[in-house]
Amino acid sequence: MKNVLVTGANGQLARCIEKAASAFPELALHMASREILDIEDQDAILNYLREHGIDICINTAAYTAVDKAESEKEQAFAVNASAVKALAGSCASNNIPLIHVSTDYVFDGTKTSPYQVTDPVNPINVYGASKLAGEQYVQELCSRYFIVRTSWLYSEYGHNFFKTILKHANAGNPLTITTEQLGSPTNANDLAVALLTIANSGSNAYGVYHFSNEGEATWYDFAEAILEESGQLASTDLAKTDHYRTFAERPAYSILDNTEIYGEFGITPIHWRESLKTLFVENNNHK
Ligand SMILES: NC(=O)c1ccc[n+]([C@@H]2O[C@H](COP(=O)([O-])OP(=O)(O)OC[C@H]3O[C@@H](n4cnc5c(N)ncnc54)[C@H](OP(=O)(O)O)[C@@H]3O)[C@@H](O)[C@H]2O)c1
Repeated sequence: MKNVLVTGANGQLARCIEKAASAFPELALHMASREILDIEDQDAILNYLREHGIDICINTAAYTAVDKAESEKEQAFAVNASAVKALAGSCASNNIPLIHVSTDYVFDGTKTSPYQVTDPVNPINVYGASKLAGEQYVQELCSRYFIVRTSWLYSEYGHNFFKTILKHANAGNPLTITTEQLGSPTNANDLAVALLTIANSGSNAYGVYHFSNEGEATWYDFAEAILEESGQLASTDLAKTDHYRTFAERPAYSILDNTEIYGEFGITPIHWRESLKTLFVENNNHK
């Protein structure tokens, strides 16, 4: 058995990881919420690693409020950079591999073809800059790391676009959704399987990877698909906008090229539209 620490256990991705774990019987998950393990506390991390005999760590803990981060720069960097530094240092001193989750928002979105793992980074908002700083600490401090960048996460857990659209549709609210960005909506349940596959592999192909669902969509396309799957498209007043004001600027294009993770870990590509359908089937219609 391999002891796997999962940080940020109350978050959306961590809950998907917990759900996916039954397919990985060789992994014993240690789910640590912020209350159990605050990753800003290096002594607590070191104690936790030793007490639980941790063999590998998956870091899902993060400051994820993209708009709020513009006015809470210190808090965003405290979690996404300084705390990641503490975690990376602790893993390195215990010779534990670290699987660290990062974001498509490390890119500026000026490309028009999928981002490769080797493409230059250039975040355009505070959240992206804080996540990039975290990546840099991981690379600097750990020799055994997997940085997995992902995009537009949604699932049945936590706060996300998918749940917000369903909430408004159920309440009969009109929806005006932006067409300004192109990305890949990614079912966090698929990412969870990918992360556990890496943890289970024993691979030493350390480095930066991308994982998203396949295909591209605007937030409007995604909203339309959610409503279509929930059977509420005809009954919802859904409109497009190309000027949706937010505090944080977002990359206009953030499709990720996932070639490396498919090749190295035998992970099967899944189109975002298919995965959305699966989520509805598995949850017996999320209305
Ligand atoms: N959501 C997306 O669309 C998206 C897109 C690309 C990449 N990502 C990345 O994917 C990962 C998972 O995101 P998610 O959607 O699961 O986010 P989430 O639902 O916001 O979960 C993050 C969790 O981290 C916890 N946390 C925050 N500060 C902590 C600390 N100091 N110590 C321990 N735990 C702490 C939070 O705890 P509290 O509940 O107490 O705040 C929360 O439970 C993150 O690295 C994120 O940057 C997300």
